[in-house]
Amino acid sequence: MGADFATVTPSYSDLRIDPDRLIRRINELGEIGKIEGTIGCARLALTDDDKAGRDLVMTWMQDLDLDISIDGVGNVIATMPHTADVAPVMTGSHIDTVATGGRYDGNLGVLAGLEVIETVITSGVTLERPLAVGWFTDEEGARFAPDMLGSLVYVGGMPIEDALEIEDADGVNVGDELTRIGYRGPVPCPGPAPHAFVELHIEQGPVLEDEDVTIGVVEGVQGISWTELTLQGQSCHAGTTPLRMRHDPGVVASRVCCFIRDLALEMGPSQVATVGVMNFEPNLINVVPDVVTMTIDLRNTDESLLQDAEERVRSYIDEIATSEGVEVESRTLARFEPVSFDPRVIDMVEAAAHKQHLSSRRLPSGAGHDAQMLARVCPTAMVFVPSVNGISHNVTEFTEAVDIEAGANVLLQTLLSLTETEF
Ligand code: GLV
Ligand code: MN
Ligand code: MN
Repeated sequence: MGADFATVTPSYSDLRIDPDRLIRRINELGEIGKIEGTIGCARLALTDDDKAGRDLVMTWMQDLDLDISIDGVGNVIATMPHTADVAPVMTGSHIDTVATGGRYDGNLGVLAGLEVIETVITSGVTLERPLAVGWFTDEEGARFAPDMLGSLVYVGGMPIEDALEIEDADGVNVGDELTRIGYRGPVPCPGPAPHAFVELHIEQGPVLEDEDVTIGVVEGVQGISWTELTLQGQSCHAGTTPLRMRHDPGVVASRVCCFIRDLALEMGPSQVATVGVMNFEPNLINVVPDVVTMTIDLRNTDESLLQDAEERVRSYIDEIATSEGVEVESRTLARFEPVSFDPRVIDMVEAAAHKQHLSSRRLPSGAGHDAQMLARVCPTAMVFVPSVNGISHNVTEFTEAVDIEAGANVLLQTLLSLTETEF
């Protein structure tokens, strides 16, 4: 008896994404906010360039006739139409970038999610649950702290009223910027919990490339502690004021910068510590500074070690500022505990890699991700693909097309398996 091909439902395990279409979209989005002379881009959250990027991705979502929702903090979720009223299996990430960003960080996860959905729709495969792809506002936290702001609000980790009032360095707030760019949507926050969530992301570090492994099976995300310090001293003449009479916040800031590096070295490889911002006022060669503002980024996969690092940094700052006669004001910008992903979803990512004969290894994430917020409300995991030279948050950030294709296919197969899995 001959098969009637018109009525045969294709098997989903044979489905593969279209790598050319995915890479074309990554590059097209990467042209918005492009940093001239580089392949990097700057689309800080809720700027005109972020709006232009959002508008472009929105047209691709509309072309697929997805149900699109925009919530009050500007998160955009696009869901496949489905006959049953059941929670979708969700994927996604962010499309904002840091000011010196690449075109893959976050953008890959959103566009690969869209590619997976397009692949499924055009295949005619029917699913027990719909797929959804989202992007979350201000993942980077480079303009409005904390990072992962949109996904934090989505899962109910911060009231939306508080999020809308967060200001950038120029005193402009999230709510006004969302309204200005037309992305303060009507859908309430927190949003509905998906059935499960999986995010594809570039590794942003050197491990996969170094070990010649294609797929990172992410087991969790390390804890993050962000602090802003304002150090108030006494400005004076650099030539005439004896050292013993100075209250120099620049000296305190520099000592803190060196202290946290030494502390991390002493604590071992799980601890990292970074001063990414240090601003001197008035910032003149012959003037002892009046005020220094600086940031401290501490991360560890172990919460008690992270707390230990925080405590030791605090007491060092007290000691050094007191001895220099400098006042310290400290503000927590972000504080997230380490997150462990769901072992069942981790296994499914690994199985999808094995089935496609792709090399894989388990690893923790050093960077923060929207998936760590979604993990609060549903079974969650992540897929990593290698970053060339381990570089990210930099205009030279790059991931090979072959790795993008592999990662997107692992995402596809994991999401499809999840549509058939009850937790
Ligand atoms: C977000 O990208 C972070 O890890 O800083
Ligand atoms: Mn990212
Ligand atoms: Mn990033």
